[in-house]
Amino acid sequence: MSQHKVQPFRVTTLTLQKRKRDGEKIAMITAYDFPTAQLVESSDIDVILVGDSVGMAVMGLDDTLSVSMEVMLHHTKMVTRGAKRPLVVADMPFLSYQVNAEEALRNAGRLVAEGGAQAVKVEGSVEKFGDAIRMILRAGIPVMGHIGLTPQSVHQLGGYRVQGRSEADRERLMEEAKGLEAAGCFAVVLECMPPDLAAEISAAISIPTIGIGAGAACDGQVLVLHDMLGWGQTKFTKTFGNVRGELESALAAYAAEVKGVSFPAQEHTYA
Ligand code: KIV
Repeated sequence: MSQHKVQPFRVTTLTLQKRKRDGEKIAMITAYDFPTAQLVESSDIDVILVGDSVGMAVMGLDDTLSVSMEVMLHHTKMVTRGAKRPLVVADMPFLSYQVNAEEALRNAGRLVAEGGAQAVKVEGSVEKFGDAIRMILRAGIPVMGHIGLTPQSVHQLGGYRVQGRSEADRERLMEEAKGLEAAGCFAVVLECMPPDLAAEISAAISIPTIGIGAGAACDGQVLVLHDMLGWGQTKFTKTFGNVRGELESALAAYAAEVKGVSFPAQEHTYA
């Protein structure tokens, strides 16, 4: 098994493609603000996704559909101030790329020029959004694809359901992955699909696959930060920490000390 140290320079799209060639896994996590980006900066995580999952994880929305460009820019700016080493990928929110290619390029350009992201992520296939993807790529902005369960199409998909169960769907997803590779995407997220399908796709394309609910054979994994910290609603992921529990105890202790007049003590008071 090969070992790599925390990389001192910016992780780039080329770094990720080399990881795949060398058989080294890629770790990606969502982040939405400066202090979290700083924590990721000093970890061994390769990529930050400023996901439109901010809508559900942070804004209390039921889905990602009402997350706007302004919200994405706001959070991307916070993250890029804190993250100089990981590659920062900003999600293109609903209706920022579906209308036409010119609007898609303008919006992708804003996430890079104003937000400071190094790449953008687009949900869907080349068949649907090829013009937009090609135009963004032509302008020199790296694009990460995203297929399988694409949350911006939740109503069309009939809910947050596993994709690629039928033979026809498996073939379609394989073609979509190959299409994104051929169009020039540097990586593709595979969300919520059978692990054997994700394994077949990962073996069939040369760009890295980043899985979420897609099994261990993907070239990398992504998780929503609040879910993996036990601070979100998702039940189907591994919880790597109990941040909710820590926060609950801290808040309870603070309230008890204020009400019991043991805080502030002498040392917390200006002389
Ligand atoms: O918005 C997001 O966090 C995502 C990941 C779940 C891949 O798209």
